Amino acid sequence: TEPLRIALAGLGTVGAGVIRLIDANAALIARRAGRPIEVVAVSARDRAKDRGVDITRFDWVDDTAELARHPRADVVVELVGGSDGPALTLARASLAGGKSFVTANKAMIAHHGLELANAAETAGLALKFEAAVAGGVPVIKGLREGAAANEIARVYGILNGTCNFILSKMEAEGRDFAEILAEAQRLGYAEADPSFDIDGVDAAHKLSILASLAFGTQPAFDQVAITGVRHVLAADIAEAASLGYRIRLLGVADAGSGGLFQRVHPHLVPLSHPLAHVTGSTNAVVAEGNFVGRLLFQGAGAGDGPTASAVVADLIDIARGEFGPPYAMPAAALAAPGAADTGER
Ligand code: NAP
Ligand code: HSE
Repeated sequence: TEPLRIALAGLGTVGAGVIRLIDANAALIARRAGRPIEVVAVSARDRAKDRGVDITRFDWVDDTAELARHPRADVVVELVGGSDGPALTLARASLAGGKSFVTANKAMIAHHGLELANAAETAGLALKFEAAVAGGVPVIKGLREGAAANEIARVYGILNGTCNFILSKMEAEGRDFAEILAEAQRLGYAEADPSFDIDGVDAAHKLSILASLAFGTQPAFDQVAITGVRHVLAADIAEAASLGYRIRLLGVADAGSGGLFQRVHPHLVPLSHPLAHVTGSTNAVVAEGNFVGRLLFQGAGAGDGPTASAVVADLIDIARGEFGPPYAMPAAALAAPGAADTGER
């Protein structure tokens, strides 16, 4: 059987993780995908950097955008990051050039997902981004496919592993914010620019993707009201605990009378709620459906193994010919998000 051949852009935490996973689980992946999945070409900034994986067996491509034209690759996987720049150039070129596209890049999907979904659907190609939200937790599939028959009233959750790691360590160990952030960076959880994590922007990227899936609306990142965790003090956490609460950075989206209402900010979560007990880099997403009831998706939200796991799951879908629409319905049918409603509830 012909393998599914991959051109891989980005060889950092997630990119190297994808190579390790495909190497380690090659036989299992081939059985489940119906054919082998093989990396044939790679690109990053520094060819000489030691990445803990052997990349000399792959074609090296200096210009990342050229991966879109690699003659042997069927699919392009983008693990570079950034809402625009080389990631977006590569996404557009791949879909325009007849190659399906897989990414973990929530910033790009939050800003350009609709355009890319339209391009993929017009060309009959796949656009997959399971790894972009909640790392290894299959929440995109869960909402797009599992909750497809439900009207969703609300979707909310812990969407940033770095912030949850920081808040839960501050709570348990009383340690300093900056010291814990440095640890999250060492563990590969944080974005290249960690202000995206701690200022709530990364969680907002993910929320806008989830909201689109849950409500069948066009992604509307610019309508998310955002406050991060930069100003949360150890004293706030102690005060909340004394009242029976924990502080968690939550993204919350619901479709009220004023339109889609999306916000990310530190919340007081009562100890009786499951999200109060989500610690470390774990993510958890709750969706409330009118027939299924309350769904809770929970698991590792960041790091190389979990994120690579979601990327390769998308590749297995493509190897089987399961292209689907990227959102819960064809992109052309997604409704306008409605007026932003930033009023108090
Ligand atoms: P990373 O460790 O910083 O790796 C980024 C990779 O992209 C590096 O290999 C880097 O090359 C390459 N790169 C950066 N700028 C480039 C450019 N201009 N041209 C070509 N290559 C370039 O990042 P990461 O943590 O793997 O994240 C990758 C993507 O996955 C991001 O979109 C991120 O948001 C997303 N994501 C990450 C996680 C996580 O837990 N880390 C989880 C979910 C999603 P060099 O190595 O040569 O410098
Ligand atoms: N920086 C992100 C986080 C990576 O901490 O959740 C996973 O998307």
